[in-house]
Amino acid sequence: MSVHKEIKKITTHVLHAMKNRGEKISMLTAYDYSMAKILDSAGIDILLVGDSASNVIAGHETTLPITLDQMIYHAQSVVRAVDRALVVVDLPFGSYQSNSTKALDSTIRIMKESGAHAVKLEGGSENAESIQRILSAGIPVMGHLGLTPQSIYKFGTYTVRAKEEMEAEKLKKDALLLEELGCFGLVLEKIPSALGKEVSESLSIPTIGIGGGPYCDGQVLVTHDMLGITKDFHPRFLRRYLELFDEIKDAVERYITDVKNQDFPNEKEKY
Ligand code: KIV
Repeated sequence: MSVHKEIKKITTHVLHAMKNRGEKISMLTAYDYSMAKILDSAGIDILLVGDSASNVIAGHETTLPITLDQMIYHAQSVVRAVDRALVVVDLPFGSYQSNSTKALDSTIRIMKESGAHAVKLEGGSENAESIQRILSAGIPVMGHLGLTPQSIYKFGTYTVRAKEEMEAEKLKKDALLLEELGCFGLVLEKIPSALGKEVSESLSIPTIGIGGGPYCDGQVLVTHDMLGITKDFHPRFLRRYLELFDEIKDAVERYITDVKNQDFPNEKEKY
């Protein structure tokens, strides 16, 4: 199926219609203007300003340290680049868990200061009141269930979630609740494919998988992973489309050699 570039702007309604007609939704992360410009011009449907910026941009081991101010800075850079994609911004750890007022205040800052179109937050029933308040303010919300990286210290490992009956049942209940509350979509991270299928078929809102299997209504990857900018990360769900770490390194090595050998700049490259 080709990319529907004739769709001028992706909205939550467009995503809903895509699910209804069986068109898969494409989503990637973006944190800066230049990359967002490339991804948007390629026709990506959703750009996620993910708190994975904490890992791939800032070099932290987890997503926990990134701040609301830093997320807003990344979101502003992405929004400036985008003509078509829906821009969703992660509420970072600590910006929404304590109470619904804080969750709404953090969301309003993101929307006002960045111009983004929606927010995403991790978890299910524990966020019900916050999600209701954010939605009441007219702001679209995306859920995120399964492996929720902000809870890594509770899980203790990044392995597949909801393999056991009890956790799978809670995930299914949470998914239905998120739809009932009014979320426009749901990320399903690192869960068994059969569960991804069951949840996707039980909901009218689109599910977006990252290690959630092929039956999700769309797929998301961290851009730095799919382009091979990150090097030593090989989860089963990841497909690498380039090996940019090696390609960039090679280009930089050639540049260094040219500078050292006084081969750059040459006659044509000077004023
Ligand atoms: O922060 C992020 O990049 C995410 C994706 C993994 C879905 O939440």
